[in-house]
Amino acid sequence: MMIDLTTLRADFPILSREVYGRPLVYLDNAATTQKPLCVLDAMRDEYLNVNANVHRGVHFLSQQATDLHEAARERVRTFINARKTEEVVFTRGTTEAINLVASTFCASQMREGDEVVVTDMEHHSNIVPWQLQAQQRGIIVRHLPITDRGELCPLDEVERMLGDRTRLLCVTHVSNVLGTVNPVKDIIRVAHEHGVPVLVDAAQSAPHLRLDVQAMDCDFLAFSGHKMYGPTGIGVLYGKEAWLDRLPPYQGGGEMIDKVSWERTTFERLPFKFEAGTPDYVATHGLATAIDYLERVGLDNVAAHEKDLTDYCTERLREVEGLRIYGEAGHKAGVVSFLVGDIHHLDMGTLLDRLGIAVRTGHHCAQPLMARLGVTGTVRASFAMYNTREEVDLLVAGIRRVVTMF
Ligand SMILES: Cc1ncc(COP(=O)(O)O)c(C=O)c1O
Repeated sequence: MMIDLTTLRADFPILSREVYGRPLVYLDNAATTQKPLCVLDAMRDEYLNVNANVHRGVHFLSQQATDLHEAARERVRTFINARKTEEVVFTRGTTEAINLVASTFCASQMREGDEVVVTDMEHHSNIVPWQLQAQQRGIIVRHLPITDRGELCPLDEVERMLGDRTRLLCVTHVSNVLGTVNPVKDIIRVAHEHGVPVLVDAAQSAPHLRLDVQAMDCDFLAFSGHKMYGPTGIGVLYGKEAWLDRLPPYQGGGEMIDKVSWERTTFERLPFKFEAGTPDYVATHGLATAIDYLERVGLDNVAAHEKDLTDYCTERLREVEGLRIYGEAGHKAGVVSFLVGDIHHLDMGTLLDRLGIAVRTGHHCAQPLMARLGVTGTVRASFAMYNTREEVDLLVAGIRRVVTMF
């Protein structure tokens, strides 16, 4: 084991709290991760010692806050290996990043009857923004099927879906329900052969897998800080400069303009064109600190540890009679969804909670996927770098206990 879990868990004080008089077992990391002390300290320190609005001030504090904010952008750039900081747009999260692309891409690059292709395993935030555009502009949203194991359909099927009117393909890197890691590099290659750009939803991959947007060759990529040990309210849209240049601004206001007059308003250069209003400059510093932390632990170590937990959890869950696992792809990240017998997911989640075990239940913001799986919801355990095999054992013991109650 490359991760020293005792030392690492001490960085997350919340993990030692109790709920209902029992030690907390936090297995809801796909919803949000806990934050290490260094992130909290960095943000507190900024509010205590540096706080001032960024970009507009000539005074010392404003310049220092601006330096931290722009250093965070550079930190994100190196984290995802973007070519330029101009390609890193700060947003409130994945959802806002995808809405930004949906709104500006559809307005400038699509006409009625043009198509966006998504997949059957998308989170609502990679479905509904496109549906809103479909309602407003008459574009068509098509969706790629998945197999019974929870893998995306084969590449030749992807290829067949890409027609003359396909303008964009949007795919999640990792499914938040099934844990499936999609072969995004291959999908992007095939899409590009057909002249179709690709948006990757990296909300569930950024905390677990090394991202390299140049190697992947994606055109857009979105992720959220809070799912990768950073603060809430901050996320990233990466876009290739050539694409971002072609898109119109998303929201209007301060920060995003060059000159404003009643006759004519011009816009800032990238990436500021897409960042209207005061940014959450404390959160960007927090995000950069979280990235430093993640890289100090080492993404390869994190991935190996979470694979061990996922494999161990899957193996232990298979021992529970009547338990069905949803998502059995060959390549999975740290998510395990399941149901036991006819026990409702909400009942299972509520009773596990009383045992101190935090899991997520319900449709996980993926109702079309639930329909495909033929269920209304599942119970989902999702892992982070600080989880342990002992916690998996507690989960399995908890499930067994719940089963005996029915
Ligand atoms: C795959 C996926 N995409 C997008 C999102 C939305 O992220 P956020 O709510 O941080 O914008 C989530 C959140 O669960 C997710 O799992």
